[in-house]
Amino acid sequence: MTLDRARLEETARAMVAEGKGILAADESNATMTKRLEAVGVESTAESRRFFRGLMFTAKGAADHISGVIMYDETFRQTTADGTPFPELLTQEGILPGIKVDTGAKPLAGFPQETVTEGLDGLRDRLRDYRELGARFAKWRAVIRIDTGLPTRGCLEANAHALARYAALCQEAGIVPIVEPEVLMDGEHTIDRSEEVTAAVLHTVFDRLAEQRVLLEGIVLKPNMLLSGYDCPVQAGVEEVAERTLACFRRVVPAAVPGIAFLSGGQSDDRAAAHLSAMNTIGGVPWELTFSYGRALVGAPLRVWSRDNSKVAEAQAALLHRARCNAAGRRGEYSESMEHEPVA
Ligand code: 13P
Repeated sequence: MTLDRARLEETARAMVAEGKGILAADESNATMTKRLEAVGVESTAESRRFFRGLMFTAKGAADHISGVIMYDETFRQTTADGTPFPELLTQEGILPGIKVDTGAKPLAGFPQETVTEGLDGLRDRLRDYRELGARFAKWRAVIRIDTGLPTRGCLEANAHALARYAALCQEAGIVPIVEPEVLMDGEHTIDRSEEVTAAVLHTVFDRLAEQRVLLEGIVLKPNMLLSGYDCPVQAGVEEVAERTLACFRRVVPAAVPGIAFLSGGQSDDRAAAHLSAMNTIGGVPWELTFSYGRALVGAPLRVWSRDNSKVAEAQAALLHRARCNAAGRRGEYSESMEHEPVA
């Protein structure tokens, strides 16, 4: 089957369009249950639908959000008036995306490491999602840093799966978000983050090439290079930005249209500040934007907390975070934005 290269390239470019980034609202039911319970909300299909609907109907979101990644349950849910979420987003000018991996599972023979699964039956699932309106997909590989970790076996297994997934997506006319996440949990230094992230990206791009993935038709979703969250010495914003770009320049081919970073547990303001500092430095061949989960979804969730009189306030909190990150995407975020009125 020949690829619809023009469509893939056009979609990928739209995902990283100027001034915009991606909302990662694709928490699995298990993860969303943790997030909801943390703010005192019981997790049911209805509470998950209500909260996602609150975000997707926030007026003006499309000014800063190019696409939304959803979980299978959400992808099949509707607004109160019965409009399927993918259709609603498409009407608003936002690209619907779908998480298609089935999670990180223990990697046999490699204690403490995981491989992300979901390749079996993926061709058929992609065809179904495409019929329901999906324009892009996501698959997240998880790499842990610790003494002696990650292993080469873990890197290879995850990179191979990411490349097979990406090739299947492109065959189906769906742009793959390629997400190899190196976790920043732990005491490791930023030097170690750099060493591991570079090795991961080298392996991923080797495997993408072997599987004949069209680089112009993907979006890379990586971690930034940070000091491990428990490292006693924490790199500042400028150092994170400089080192992340220096590392990526060496490893990420210029054909990739855009890099949409994950937030990975950083505070909301740090996630915006790091992105802004990278865009201020600039001079790179790819668009640099966000594909944040927690750094976008956390604020509206805390405001809403199942109090339906606060829907408008929660939507304003989402838009505020989207504005801050969109400013970061242009290199124009400053801490003072955090003190602007939210509504
Ligand atoms: P975070 O921004 O919370 O890391 O989530 C992004 C994501 O989609 C992880 O797969």
